[in-house]
Amino acid sequence: MNWPGIIEAYRQFLPVSDKTPVVTLEEGGTPLLPAPRLAAHIGAEIDLYLKYEGVNPTGSFKDRGMTLAISKAKEEGAEKVICASTGNTSASAAAYSVRGGMKAYVLIPKGKISLGKLAQALMHRATILEVAGNFDEALSLVTEVSKTYPITLVNSINPFRLQGQKTAAFEVCDRLSEAPTHHFLPVGNAGNITAYWMGYKEYLKNGKISHLPKMMGFQAAGAAPIVLGKVVAEPKTIASAIRIGNPAGWKTAQEAALESQGKIDMVTDEEIIAAYRLIAELEGVFCEPASAAGVAGVIKLHQQGYFKKNDQVVCTLTGHGLKDADFCLKTSAKEKETGIVKDKKDLLQALGF
Ligand code: F0G
Repeated sequence: MNWPGIIEAYRQFLPVSDKTPVVTLEEGGTPLLPAPRLAAHIGAEIDLYLKYEGVNPTGSFKDRGMTLAISKAKEEGAEKVICASTGNTSASAAAYSVRGGMKAYVLIPKGKISLGKLAQALMHRATILEVAGNFDEALSLVTEVSKTYPITLVNSINPFRLQGQKTAAFEVCDRLSEAPTHHFLPVGNAGNITAYWMGYKEYLKNGKISHLPKMMGFQAAGAAPIVLGKVVAEPKTIASAIRIGNPAGWKTAQEAALESQGKIDMVTDEEIIAAYRLIAELEGVFCEPASAAGVAGVIKLHQQGYFKKNDQVVCTLTGHGLKDADFCLKTSAKEKETGIVKDKKDLLQALGF
């Protein structure tokens, strides 16, 4: 059967009617990959899974929320949409706006987003507006403007975004025929953890699962306002997607962690990079640096003796590694020394024959 995109797949759980024009790139239906080599490598006797959101149409989980936000904007007759972004939201907003025949305006922190994401917004002809400040400043600007002018905000403050994103939790449960014991994911603006928690609770209410997972959100140590309990004025991390110092979903993320008896914790850039590489080397999955924060969290907590045998642990890998090929090549200088093959002898030597 062809996958129809998240709105048709989960229509009964979403705020759509027959009148809603469905603007879709057939997002969702993403792999839930067992990761036994990764679990064995870190020495954890857990069932580890990777929810690989990098294979969505624009390469990140944002597409789940964007299909709904843009469909609803179209239903309401919007002609213009706007967002602030560390890159992925802008790529997704740009693509879905094209699909829906709308114009997208994206505000990004100048020089701070990955080239792949910038290229996406460019290709889809969004108007790219660079902000001298950081993501938080860009978000407060677009929020203010969208309140008084006829332009629809498609950041995750838009409730349709989270409604769409909650479908990732449905997919996890549909595949496992139950909720996992733990769900790990990176936290930036804190929309996704809020959305997953909504999704799990809704599935419990509908009798689709019999328990809820603990929600385990991980911020980068240099951009960890929720963990530190205070706004970080100048967030710093190599994980540019989650370089956010004052998340819009702060409160709801805390509630998700509290209600589920999970936690919001942080991992260092070194831990993020180590996880980023292990996922690629051991499981054949290439994610962007920010996406590895959840796995880095699993490694950190395992080292603290946190897990019980046979815990079912799902990590969302939020975006595709190709979005930030630059970062990968910069941090893989040694591996890049491939050597030059002049003749058959060189080749055979390289092949170990
Ligand atoms: N991972 C990636 C790859 C992201 O792009 C983001 C957020 C997150 C994790 C964090 O998700 O914000 O829901 O807690 N990116 C936003 C953007 C901020 O503008 O693309 P969150």
